Amino acid sequence: MATALGRKDLLDEARAPGFAGWVRGLRRRIHQHPELAFQEHRTSALVRAELDAIGIAYAWPVARTGVVATIAGRGGAGSGPVFALRADMDALPIQEMVEWEFKSQEDGKMHACGHDAHVAMLLGAAKLLQSRKDDLKGTVKLVFQPAEEGHAGGYHVLQEGVLDDVDAIFAVHIDPCLPVGTVGSRPGPFLAGSARFRATIAGKGGHAAVPHAAVDPVVAASSAVLSLQQLVAREIDPLESAVVSVTFIKGGSAFNVIPESVTLGGTCRSMTTQGLSYLMKRIREVIEGQAAVGRCAAAADFMEEELRPYPATVNDEAVYAHAKSVAEGMLGECNFRLCPQVMAAEDFGFYAEKIPAAFFSVGVRGGEDEEISHVHTPHLVIHEDVLTVGAALHAAVAIEFLNKH
Ligand code: NI
Repeated sequence: MATALGRKDLLDEARAPGFAGWVRGLRRRIHQHPELAFQEHRTSALVRAELDAIGIAYAWPVARTGVVATIAGRGGAGSGPVFALRADMDALPIQEMVEWEFKSQEDGKMHACGHDAHVAMLLGAAKLLQSRKDDLKGTVKLVFQPAEEGHAGGYHVLQEGVLDDVDAIFAVHIDPCLPVGTVGSRPGPFLAGSARFRATIAGKGGHAAVPHAAVDPVVAASSAVLSLQQLVAREIDPLESAVVSVTFIKGGSAFNVIPESVTLGGTCRSMTTQGLSYLMKRIREVIEGQAAVGRCAAAADFMEEELRPYPATVNDEAVYAHAKSVAEGMLGECNFRLCPQVMAAEDFGFYAEKIPAAFFSVGVRGGEDEEISHVHTPHLVIHEDVLTVGAALHAAVAIEFLNKH
């Protein structure tokens, strides 16, 4: 009863005009000045200024631009269980096409994945939690991380050790398919693990009319591309999801010249981290093997230092069940949706690999009949009522986790 009331209080407080206007204002300011991975200096400064105003201590810089704030409950710093909430701060290299008052002012950059909303929601949660700090039965850490889009910011935050004492972690992502006021997720594997590969197949260039005097990398690369398509079809359990997509192939420029080399690359995904490792091993073997059949040399590169592969995002059953029951209690059971698995990847997978974790989708669509504007497009529109829902949900999931443990 007490928790049900607590949830409603949180939602009512977040929806009060002053609070809702403040969170909306934060989202709009961040939206107007999107910053790419590891360049989130202005966003990071905004986060710190708001935390200062609320009176919350934080560590900074974490992984260059990141901020990790700590709200200690009545037992003081380091007491009780530690629950973490995470938001990502980076934007995408996309030119916004939506005409509205708070359109991106940065050429070629846009918050097209909703990370502006994630930051605003987490700052909203910060304020809700801070005003209840004396009732917290443990510690809440708020993680504002850089570089989710392709650069594994989450991995780098974990490397700094600031989350070593965390017992469980929760995050949300906006979902343009779900109506605002609804949330969704699923237990176990939710988002795919993902890696990128690039390979150069080197032969010996020559006159196209004298193929026997050359070693043709075009034919070897073609065989490699076709063989790669057999990995998922012939080597992966049909009941497990995986993808291998070759997305570019480059080589040669003349009609009558066999080129020296061909470069190709793409992505592979799996719903399990072991599945991803298997695909990576086999992609290397297939490319190098098919190159050898064609008398060429090849080396596959997964660019693991600069473009670290993302593990699958796997929801812990208990943390998932906890967050689901809080969401249902706050928004009504009919407003929770069991989501399908998605082959997109998220660097939240790094946290979920180390810490019991739950990742939830929050709806941003105006209504069931409103046209869907997808993430990673220049047309993304977010229904801003999600901001207060998200702020209250984050806070309630943390408070009730600490109550239970
Ligand atoms: Ni995103």
